[in-house]
Amino acid sequence: MEMFTTTSAAHRRQSDCVVVGVYENGIAGQAAAEIDAASKGHLSKLIKQGDISGMPGTSLMLTSVPGVRAQRVLVVGLGKMSKLGVSQFRGAIRAAANLLKNGKIKDVVSYLGLENVGDTGAYYLARYTAETIGDALYKFTETKSGGHSRATPLKKIGVAAGSRSDANKALRGAEHGQAIVEGMSLAKDLGNLPPNICTPAYLARTAQKIGRQHKNVTTRILGEAEIKRLGMHSFLSVTAGTTLPAKLILMQYKGAGRDKPIVLVGKGITFDAGGISLKPGPGMDEMKFDMCGAASVIATMSVIAKLKLPVNLNVVVPACENLPSGTATRPGDIIKSMSGKTIEVLNTDAEGRLVLCDALTYSKRFKPEVIIDVATLTGACVIALGHHRTAVMSPNDKLAGEITSAGIAADDRGWHMPIADEYERQLKSNFADFANVGGRDGGAVTAACFLSKFADGMNWAHLDIAGTAWRSGGAKGSTGRPVPMLSEFVLQRARAIP
Ligand code: BES
Ligand code: MN
Ligand code: ZN
Repeated sequence: MEMFTTTSAAHRRQSDCVVVGVYENGIAGQAAAEIDAASKGHLSKLIKQGDISGMPGTSLMLTSVPGVRAQRVLVVGLGKMSKLGVSQFRGAIRAAANLLKNGKIKDVVSYLGLENVGDTGAYYLARYTAETIGDALYKFTETKSGGHSRATPLKKIGVAAGSRSDANKALRGAEHGQAIVEGMSLAKDLGNLPPNICTPAYLARTAQKIGRQHKNVTTRILGEAEIKRLGMHSFLSVTAGTTLPAKLILMQYKGAGRDKPIVLVGKGITFDAGGISLKPGPGMDEMKFDMCGAASVIATMSVIAKLKLPVNLNVVVPACENLPSGTATRPGDIIKSMSGKTIEVLNTDAEGRLVLCDALTYSKRFKPEVIIDVATLTGACVIALGHHRTAVMSPNDKLAGEITSAGIAADDRGWHMPIADEYERQLKSNFADFANVGGRDGGAVTAACFLSKFADGMNWAHLDIAGTAWRSGGAKGSTGRPVPMLSEFVLQRARAIP
């Protein structure tokens, strides 16, 4: 995919296809009106005939429109003019992309960014365009026989802007959007790969590959002996029942000299069977997605390195499987975490917090400006927020606000949930400093409370992506979230948004 911007009028633009919009009551959008004038009323006629309704989700492909240089004009419905917001805008782009991806079209220019989409500027409209098209074109074929065939020929994507200055902003948006959507594709690939391929070692190799691609990125992989030497017995307790070795994946990007880094920690459970507290069979395959936090932070690293942002960024991924066996950790076992605090493992299926707590303790050595962990941590989070919003939790309301705002700007939304002392009693243990579970009630919050005990002294937030990282059912697959939210957070901190 290659992005570019143009200020030429829709009817003058040479291209395989230009995309223009029409509103619900038959009012032509900016570029549609231009094409209508150039073609002496070709579109008005089709609107009058009822072939173009302007309803959301509709589209009509026209060829050889008189007075128009492009070979085709794709007219998409924009719905009600007063209702055109980011999600309607992206819906129209998605409709266009879904139609174009199976055709023979190689290059396309979208003129939809000329419309008034709330108060969204040229930068974000171009970025959403790149992200929406890249997201729609994504296809996972790696594990189908017949392989990588039938890739879409659609390679060049243009975004039209109304002025030179908007075109400059749009170009930045398109570049950022392209980097973000490539990051999302990487995160999706890692999520979608089966657990017999996407193992802890595979995640480590992927991180190393990114390290080789960017000269500002260094990657280090620690094996079990080193993990043990660090005293990460909580992390190791999760991998006790497995054959595949655990890895601690460390990535470092230096773009801002000696500034304190942003640290991203990702849960990397490449398969979560629950351990001795075994999960029920139905749907257990979806626990291959339990490394989506890791995928999202590794992918965000690739986005930031590609954009060469002036920030320092560290990524920490504890990666292992959670399986039952004769050597697995038992419910009732008490382990000593790297911090020295002891944990009574009452449920071996609450393993995410056990790997993350040691990763948080380890991360203290980076003296982070801010540290965010990302994890498919609790089923309770899915009950609380469903599949639309990522849970954002932090003892620091300002940081939680900054992250939820980034989610709004990136159109990858979160919702602020509490971390508070009242919940802590639920983690009380008679035998250790605390238990690893706090009962069913408020499960997403008590999990965050558990982590907070290891994040003391750091400016920390926790993202629970259990509901947003993948889809189930017919469209089963990884979503690439929250790569846009995390990338936006770093872009804002780097002051890289025009
Ligand atoms: N990876 C799961 C969380 C999960 C479950 C995410 C289902 C998405 C869908 C996590 O390791 C887990 O098993 N959590 C337990 C915690 C409980 C034992 C306190 C859960 O949510 O059931
Ligand atoms: Mn689990
Ligand atoms: Zn898990």
